[in-house]
Amino acid sequence: MNFQLSEEHLMIQQAARDFAQNECLPGVIERDEKMQFPREQIMKLADLGFMGMMVPTEFGGAGLDTVSYILAMEEISKIDASVSVCMSVNNSLVCYGFEAFGTQEQKEKYLTPLAQGKKDGELYTGAFLLSEPEAGSDATSQRTTAEEKGDHYILNGTKNWITNGGTASVYIVIALTDPSKGHRGISVFVVEKNWPGVVVTAKENKLGIRASDTHSILFNDVKVPKENRIGEEGFGFKFAMKTLNGGRIGIAAQALGIASGSYELSLKYSKERKAFGTEIANHQIIAFKLADMATRIEASRLLCLRAAIDKDESRDYTVSAAMAKVFSSETAMWTSVEGVQIHGGYGYVKEYHVERLMRDAKITQIYEGTSEVQRIVISRSLLNQ
Ligand code: CAA
Repeated sequence: MNFQLSEEHLMIQQAARDFAQNECLPGVIERDEKMQFPREQIMKLADLGFMGMMVPTEFGGAGLDTVSYILAMEEISKIDASVSVCMSVNNSLVCYGFEAFGTQEQKEKYLTPLAQGKKDGELYTGAFLLSEPEAGSDATSQRTTAEEKGDHYILNGTKNWITNGGTASVYIVIALTDPSKGHRGISVFVVEKNWPGVVVTAKENKLGIRASDTHSILFNDVKVPKENRIGEEGFGFKFAMKTLNGGRIGIAAQALGIASGSYELSLKYSKERKAFGTEIANHQIIAFKLADMATRIEASRLLCLRAAIDKDESRDYTVSAAMAKVFSSETAMWTSVEGVQIHGGYGYVKEYHVERLMRDAKITQIYEGTSEVQRIVISRSLLNQ
């Protein structure tokens, strides 16, 4: 087993690190405070090819592997998790969904500009609409309906907590087509945001990743052409689960980045800050905290790499992705709380960044499947063996 990254992986990691330092760090505190979407940063990320990293070049993507993707996600998330969530949703939930299950026409029309992150020089991203007011972890309890009417469907319902909801051009929408069939009566559709009957509500005022663009989306008799259904009728729940498996690798890497960001700041601070006549790193209580942070982060990184390599080598990655997500998100939460503690009073104010990382960490235990859902996925697989 070789634990060394290739030359290409190291170059991508460095490019993401430079991007995060030069493009994301300036203004990150202000964007968080004002809930200001990082449009300029996402446009530049698109120029780097990071909005469709794993999409084949024939569809406008960078044609890279999942390991490259998690390396980039970690570096960007160290500095700005609001930027990285937009990147993650576009890459793993939207582009992957089209690439793996879309028709040639759907790929040409939607995947190509989504992978480039731009169309006619303007931002062009996607969002994934599964969650509803009464369908979060219990994702089969969909209320949004798509009623067949000959050559089209009529879509009605409400979707909640949608990342990229206000800025995306394209929505992937999960909806009920046959309520009598349970999860096999759920289908998936491509809906354009500017179609009649699509309503975007006000941006959510969140605890963390405040600059990211989160909205509820309402559908009032939206006419969706039949050619915009992905796969057969009844494929929607499987589509969502399979797509989320890859999404969970992206969010695991985001959590890893938040944890590493907090650790790196805490290491630096503890070598500079003096108390009781010496740098605080010389106090064993702080040194041991740093040791535990570094150990948990390394374990998270290995789990993320394991899941990414499973995906790249076409093995089933359902469980490795769930393990990476639950462990990395809990590492992010624990590490970022300790990061604030090490910084003391400075940690509680915005200029030192660690309080934002602590707020950003929390969502990684919730979205794309809560920690409880990941434990359902892992334990069911163990018990069914
Ligand atoms: N991968 C592949 N298939 C899966 C799967 C997975 N991870 N999980 C379930 N399935 C399949 C099952 O094998 C089963 O298939 P069959 O019909 O062939 O038997 C089918 O899906 C139904 O599965 P279950 O009977 O296990 O369904 P369940 O109702 O018990 O629910 C669950 C299982 C794991 C809890 C699932 O509902 C789930 O993952 N919930 C969480 C949803 C979620 O992650 N939401 C995130 C919202 S999106 C978001 O956050 C995006 C954003 O903007 C950032």
